[in-house]
Amino acid sequence: MSPFYINKDSKALLDPIFSVLSSLSVLVIGDTIIDHYIFALPKGRAVKDPILSVEFKYQEKYAGGILAIANHISSYVKEIKLVTLVGAKKSNIDFIKKSMGQNIHLQTFFKPSSPTTVKKRYIDSYRNHKLFKIEYMDDRLIRPELTKEICEYLSQEIPKHDLVLVGDFGHGFLNQEIRSVIENKSKFLSINVQSNSANMGYNYVNHYKHPDFMTMDEQEVRLPLMKRFDDIENVIRDFHSTFGHQKFLVTLGKKGVLYYNEGKIHHAPILITDVVDTVGAGDAVFALSSLFVYTNAGNDLILFIANCAGGIKSNIMGNKESVTKEKLIKFIEELHNELE
Ligand SMILES: Nc1ncnc2c1ncn2[C@@H]1O[C@H](COP(=O)(O)OP(=O)(O)OP(=O)(O)O)[C@@H](O)[C@H]1O
Ligand SMILES: [Mg+2]
Repeated sequence: MSPFYINKDSKALLDPIFSVLSSLSVLVIGDTIIDHYIFALPKGRAVKDPILSVEFKYQEKYAGGILAIANHISSYVKEIKLVTLVGAKKSNIDFIKKSMGQNIHLQTFFKPSSPTTVKKRYIDSYRNHKLFKIEYMDDRLIRPELTKEICEYLSQEIPKHDLVLVGDFGHGFLNQEIRSVIENKSKFLSINVQSNSANMGYNYVNHYKHPDFMTMDEQEVRLPLMKRFDDIENVIRDFHSTFGHQKFLVTLGKKGVLYYNEGKIHHAPILITDVVDTVGAGDAVFALSSLFVYTNAGNDLILFIANCAGGIKSNIMGNKESVTKEKLIKFIEELHNELE
């Protein structure tokens, strides 16, 4: 258990960190995802087919993927440049623009004849369980001309920023040339490379060679090593010796978070028990822990903040809201109140 969890003087510890963060200029780059949630009430088995019949109730759209990551850090830092790729047809660009925090400057590139990635989930509105998901995406790699344009833009833009956050969801935006520019130009690089049902087996963290920090979930650390059943701490040590990374955080869902730093593995448990929706919980952990690692915060604090971010996000439906500074402070105050 992180000792910080029971420290009542959290304000004194957090204020100097918030002050450093408030002057930062951050470049955030990665795949845009629109999360479309359709809430419906199950009625029973359809009469003529062996399928579930549901009644539509309401629907909501949330800014997900890299949009959510940029929004999570928006209230902590001075300004954000968000670089992303959207589809030229069904771009959802108006929705994207109106969903972004006010200090986020959007730089969008357009993929010809493609839609912006939309993940449509059907939710049982009574029990809040997911029933089904359909993805609309064109995840083929972008053309060389567009790659060149993006690389030229990034070569100019990245050096102007203190910190670069990459959310690589493997949906057809980032390729090796773009990754290489990002790695060469960033002053401080933090990455999250997702393995998901759409990219399974093709999007591992070893696409990147020397990030300063990264977060992964348990599958994402096991898959590149092909170590399915080994003890997770052995896998983490193996990950370090195979790829050489010095600092990385592994999220374990309801088992909390492990942090590898300077040859040691540190653990902290989850801080909440009831969840609403864990979609994007790892992204919230990535966003906030990257900021705290950048400020050289201590191991315990980084672990604690990671679980705060995961906990706050897991109590929000989809990416409807972000893990703002205000929410973080309130969450910590409530934890302290519970202990009294
Ligand atoms: N069931 C849960 N109960 C409590 N906390 C949870 C639960 N699931 C996730 N969390 C919190 O969120 C963090 C990240 O979760 P997880 O490991 O599932 O990320 P992930 O698989 O990368 O998610 P995503 O890719 O959808 O963003 C956990 O470390 C924990 O703090
Ligand atoms: Mg994840």
